[in-house]
Amino acid sequence: MSRARRTCRLLITAGPTREPIDPVRYISNHSTGTLGYALAKVAKARGHEVILITGPTELESPKGVKRVGVETAGQMEQAVVRHFPSADALIMSAAVADFRPIRVATQKIKRSGVAGSLRLWQLELVENPDIVAKAASQRKEGQVVVGFALETEHLLTNARNKLRSKNLDAIVATQLSPKKKGRGPFGTDPVDGAILDAKGRVKTFRALPKLRLANRILDTVEAILSSRATE
Ligand code: CTP
Repeated sequence: MSRARRTCRLLITAGPTREPIDPVRYISNHSTGTLGYALAKVAKARGHEVILITGPTELESPKGVKRVGVETAGQMEQAVVRHFPSADALIMSAAVADFRPIRVATQKIKRSGVAGSLRLWQLELVENPDIVAKAASQRKEGQVVVGFALETEHLLTNARNKLRSKNLDAIVATQLSPKKKGRGPFGTDPVDGAILDAKGRVKTFRALPKLRLANRILDTVEAILSSRATE
């Protein structure tokens, strides 16, 4: 970016959420938090003030970043509601679990205990609130909201639909190839995808390392923020 950079307060979410079934089991996903932590690191290095709301990961928080650890989607929602009002931008890279068990058992759920019996057991789930859509609907003038779209097919169409329906300023779409069995956007592999913005611009990328993708995402966020400041 050639224009002078102003220091912003960035709220970044990262990692998976875990939705408990009982005291020893949960529902989650393959997210490792790599991209969210890369975003926090790059944002800090660019001089921004960063709050990182993170689900459980193996990663170390970048130096100088305020880390808020959460476990469930409900806790992540509360943390976003608390910190978003004082942020210039929300970058919602967390892989929020879409569903949670309706009931959480207080004791460990036991097997039938009958030799040879394969008991059918059903888990009832309820949808979690859409955190980024809610934040976007409640934003103050000038606040920027960026979401992510992880897709196995129809990457650009699905991402465009999410950009519109969640009322985002930009969306980072990444492609998960089912053939790669859970790799691709998960972990440290380079990623394929595109950054789309609300003005209809689309920037595609191929085999991009996550640190470089984090830089491109922050270029986009800074450009939107500085265009708002001059409007
Ligand atoms: N997201 C969220 N709250 C949820 C689910 C998703 O804030 N309960 C956010 C993610 O952090 C991401 C964006 O919404 O920024 C899109 O997430 P994604 O999982 O790709 O899409 P979903 O909206 O969950 O839709 P679907 O699973 O049907 O593709």
